[in-house]
Order: sequence, then C-alpha cells, then structure tokens
Amino acid sequence: MDDMDDLQDLKARRAAVLLAHNYQPDEVQDAADHVGDSFELSLLASRTEAEVIVFCGVHFMAEAAVLLSPEKVVLLPDLEAGCPLAESATPADVRSLRAAHPGAAVVSYVNTTAAVKAESDVCVTSANAVEVVSALPQDEIIFLPDANLGRHIAERTGKRVITTGGHCPAHRAVTVKDVERARAETPGAVVMVHPEVPPEVAARADLVLGTGGMVRQARERPAKEFVIGTEAGMLYRLRKENPGKSFHLLSPALWCPDMKKTTLDKVTEALRDLSPRVVVPPEVAGPARRALERMLELTGGGS
Ligand code: 13P
Repeated sequence: MDDMDDLQDLKARRAAVLLAHNYQPDEVQDAADHVGDSFELSLLASRTEAEVIVFCGVHFMAEAAVLLSPEKVVLLPDLEAGCPLAESATPADVRSLRAAHPGAAVVSYVNTTAAVKAESDVCVTSANAVEVVSALPQDEIIFLPDANLGRHIAERTGKRVITTGGHCPAHRAVTVKDVERARAETPGAVVMVHPEVPPEVAARADLVLGTGGMVRQARERPAKEFVIGTEAGMLYRLRKENPGKSFHLLSPALWCPDMKKTTLDKVTEALRDLSPRVVVPPEVAGPARRALERMLELTGGGS
C-alpha cells in the first residue's frame, strides 16, 4: 500500500472530505476531492455531508469552513499556514472606520480573520466582490483589507470605497514591466490577472479575475496561450485541465510560502490524529457566520 492509498483509506474511515485551494502543491491537488477558489470551497464546506473537512489552504479558509459548517470537524494540516493579508486587519480597524463613516457598509474580504468578519456586514471573495457590492443599498463602502481589490471594486461598481491599505505580498510584487515582457515574449497570449495585483498592472491585462474565473476562461476561450497573474500553484490545474494549451506565470514573485506548507504527510497525520483542528469561539462565530451567509444570499449561493 503506498502513501496515497493510506491517505485515501484514512479519509474513507474518517468520513472526511479533502478540499484544496487552487494554489495548493500539485500532489495535494491530486489527492483532493475538490480543488477550487475560495468561494467554491466555502460553498462546498457549507453543503458537505462529510463529518470531517480537511482544508488544504490557509487559516482563514479553514475558519470560513468552520463558520459555514459548525457541526463538522475542520482540520488544517499545518496551523502555521496563515495569510499576511488576512492578518493585517483587526476588529479595532473595523470599529474605527465604522465610527468615521457611520453610513457606510462594512464589506470584508474572505481573506480576514473570523474576528474581523464578526464586525462586518457582509463578506466577499474575489469571485463575487463586484456582484455583492453592487447589490448593497449603500454607495459608501468600507472594504478591507486589500487596497488593490478595493480599487477594482470601486472602478467596477462606481461606489466610493474606503480601504485599510493592506496587500497580498505576492500579488503586489507584480509590475508593469512583467506585463510588457510577457506581451513581448508571448504575443497574442491572453493575460489574466487577479484583482489583488496593482491597478496599473490590472489596467494592462486582458482579464481581471479570481482563480475560479481563470479556470473557466482557460477552458472556454479558443486561445491556446495564456499568461497567468496569480499564485504559481494555479498553473498545475490549468495545465492538467487544458493539455492542448500553454500557460506562463507572469512573475516569479507569484509564490505564496503559506500555501506550500501543506504536504501529503501532514494531511495524513491530520486525518489520523484529528488534529490540528480549527475552532472559532461562539461569540465570534455567530456574527462572523452572518456576514458569510449574507454573501451567499446576495450571490444566490445560500440554501
Ligand atoms: P480566490 O478568491 O480566487 O480563491 O483567491 C484567493 C486568494 O487568497 C488570492 O490571494
């Protein structure tokens, strides 16, 4: 029996489902039951009948699974897998922005802690941010923590967006020069970037999309060559699902060390020991869950 058989056997015995984000290492994606973007994985977590969810991603994603499936055991194979962007915003930031802009809606990116979600009116992911913010009655929006995504939302919705100025270290490192180099080296390729990249980079791309949108565009467009402006792990799935097409990474800076902390050994150990488990205190879980459920309602994803 090899390691993968051990893992699949343990998974069956634990009645577990293995969810992996699009940025996860190749072998983790191969072992997963579902690979997806943060929105798709939240939906799957809210609907799964499994007793245990092994979340192969980073801490805020596992927390969102706990909020949406409170009766399940949610395991994060490496508790150190965090997100500097999510950790950059605090509940105190939300409270002071709310005090300064009392008429504004507080919209938090899913890349936030549960404590920040608990102070928010609604959550969004990169896949639905424009749709959710457009659906809100308020024209003034406090959005945190990603400043580049906040700017993208403002441009697409025409609303006034106030942000805290946070960034994803990998996405913010992409430059206009990277796009110019890609255009010169791969003329005719479709350049797709994540909305967390700087606005001057987004302005020069063909498409600005979350990772799920990139998967669909790569599948549906007749183009044969794509340049990808998001975390490097994305290329494995795109290449696997589109063998006749080629995919290039826009910049070597697009690499998230936290997403690479998951290994198959850690997944196997987590299933064997039912640890490390992610939990959210009830006083935080209630209001944080409401912000996520409001997102699902506004996107037609609620039950
Ligand atoms: P997605 O919403 O496309 O999954 O992106 C998640 C993310 O953390 C981007 O840095």
